[in-house]
Order: sequence, then structure tokens, then C-alpha cells
Amino acid sequence: MKKILIITGPAGDAQGWGDINVTQSVKKAIDDSGKNATIAFVNTMEEFYSSLEKNEFDIAWSALYHISGKSETIGMSEGDEKWVADIFDDKGIPYIGPDAKTMKELIHKTTTHSILDSKNIAVPYHYQLTTSDLIPDIAYPAFVKPSYESRSVGISDESVVHSPQELQKRIDYIENNFEQPALVEEYLPGTEYTVLMLGNGRHQKFLPGKVVVDPSMFGKYPILRSDLRGVGVTKIETVSQKKEELIELCRQAMEALNCLDHVRADMRLDADGKPKIIEVNGIPGLKPVKSWSPQIFSLNYPSPDGPIEDYRKLIDHIVTSALARYNL
Ligand SMILES: Nc1ncnc2c1ncn2[C@@H]1O[C@H](COP(=O)(O)OP(=O)(O)O)[C@@H](O)[C@H]1O
Ligand SMILES: [Mg+2]
Repeated sequence: MKKILIITGPAGDAQGWGDINVTQSVKKAIDDSGKNATIAFVNTMEEFYSSLEKNEFDIAWSALYHISGKSETIGMSEGDEKWVADIFDDKGIPYIGPDAKTMKELIHKTTTHSILDSKNIAVPYHYQLTTSDLIPDIAYPAFVKPSYESRSVGISDESVVHSPQELQKRIDYIENNFEQPALVEEYLPGTEYTVLMLGNGRHQKFLPGKVVVDPSMFGKYPILRSDLRGVGVTKIETVSQKKEELIELCRQAMEALNCLDHVRADMRLDADGKPKIIEVNGIPGLKPVKSWSPQIFSLNYPSPDGPIEDYRKLIDHIVTSALARYNL
């Protein structure tokens, strides 16, 4: 029986996958699929290292990009600290998800944009700015967000700015509250989509979803503010328009970034109706029924036994894809 070691900790929710309850659902789905999962909840690097020593397993799966005690933000330092995937690489441990290089490229949204831009894959214009930088000459409205967060942390109607003064104020806000540079992008006013990449090679699937919220919940702008995330109000609907275009955009991005197993690309339409990638998630949310990957999977492969069975199949698909890459 294949054994999976799941790594999580206080930062599970902040880093995107979900809290300990979500991790327990992942474990249950693995166990119900005839495999065996053990959860290592680690608070520190020492606990992480010792969990690797203590447990016997075939493959690891981490809910964390890096070990952190922070439960509200990802809050990366720009330094050269070791990431979870770096340590798996150092020790030759097989693991689910993209490699350490890709994980770092994905968490830094500006880096993701630069890589995609260099391959002519559509992204909004983008500038990474700190409070001490000069404000560049850009087109307004612009959208300002933290450079490396998740769950819409730091995003509200104030994220849409219309002048250099408003932009400066928002950069100050991001630096003061999240201790990181701001990512300033073209404001994309159109429909929001997310495309799920599942599996690799011949077994790879690209499943698009339209992200919708009851319009009465929006304020000034149709954007996913932080108070609309993680509370069950974002629903995924079937994509009817631009489906092939969205899939192709995702496929190109996943290839450019060397994504593996389970990665999700968020997109919006610009003012001309052209889809552009706003970010690529290396550790997408896995809350049963509610997170976007489970919702998309259920829309595409609904089982007569209901969404919890769909969830089991989604998790098993991810695990099986990764085991196959390692010929396990
Ligand atoms: N350039 C943009 N234009 C318009 N809305 C945006 C833009 N970038 C992000 N958003 C809104 O903010 C939300 C969160 O941004 P995103 O980059 O996906 O970060 P995360 O999901 O990691 O917090 C998106 O779901 C979208 O509603
Ligand atoms: Mg997102």
C-alpha cells in the first residue's frame, strides 16, 4: 500500500491549501482510495526535519511552500531560506506538486508574470514597487496587490487606483501591512475564470471554470475582495464562451512554468475581452466542495454518489499522477 506523508502547519490556510480540517479531508480521501496518509503538523523547521526521519513513506505532499508560524499571511522574506521542496530535493524525496524552482516562481507573482511575458503568454502590464520607488508613468485604472499572498489578502475596492496619488497610498498600505512590495497591474474589468491543470503528460486535463459571485455582494468593482474569499460565496460555473482560448492560455502557462500534478491558473478578461493570467497557484485550495478545484472537478465529472465522492476522485487523481511520474 502506497504511503503518503502530508506536511502542514499553522500556515496551511494562509498558504492556500486550507487549514487542518482541510488536511484531514485530504487524508480521508487518500485512505478511502486504498492508500495510506499520515499528517505531520509542523511548527518549525526542526519538527519538519524530524517528521521526515520519523515517518516511513513513498511520497510527500506539502500544504506549505515554506515552514512558517504565520497563520494570516504567506509573508515571504526575499532571502535564501530553504523551502519545503528544496529540502525534498536535497534529500531525494519524491513529492507531489511542482519542483522548488517552480514553487518560488509561482509564489512571487511578479516573477510569474515576467516568465510568462517573456514567452508572449498574456499577462497584465505589471510593476513591482516599494514605497521608495518612483511612480512610473502608467495607464489608469490600475490594480494594486501584495506581491506574494493568497486568498485575496490585501485586496479591497481600494485596490483599484485612478491616479499616482492613490497608487502611492496603496503601495504604502501594502508595505506597512504586509511587509512586501506591491504588484501594480493593468486593471482587468472583465469576467473572472480559473483553469485547473490536473495530472501530467498523456493523462493531463485542463478544466476551466467561470468564477461568479452574487453581484449584490460586490461594492464599487466586480473583484474578489478578501471578505468574499473562504466564506463559500464564490461559485464555479461551466464556461460557455472562450473555452478553448482559456484552456490554451493555461496550457501554455503550465508548460512555461513546468507545472506538475495539480496547479490552477486565475485569469480575467481585459477591457477588450482578451483573457490574461493574473496568477498561477502552486498549492491550490482543497477544501471539499468549496474550493475551486473540487468545484471544477465536480462540474466536469459528477459522480452519482455526490461531491464527496468527486473529491475523493480528485485527490486520488493528483496522488496517482505524481506516483506515476516517479514510476512508483
Ligand atoms: N489585474 C487585476 N484586475 C482586476 N482584478 C484583479 C486583478 N488582479 C487580481 N484581481 C482580483 O483580485 C483577486 C485576487 O487576486 P489574485 O492575483 O488571484 O491573488 P490571490 O488569489 O492569490 O489572492 C482576483 O480573484 C481578482 O478578483
Ligand atoms: Mg487567485
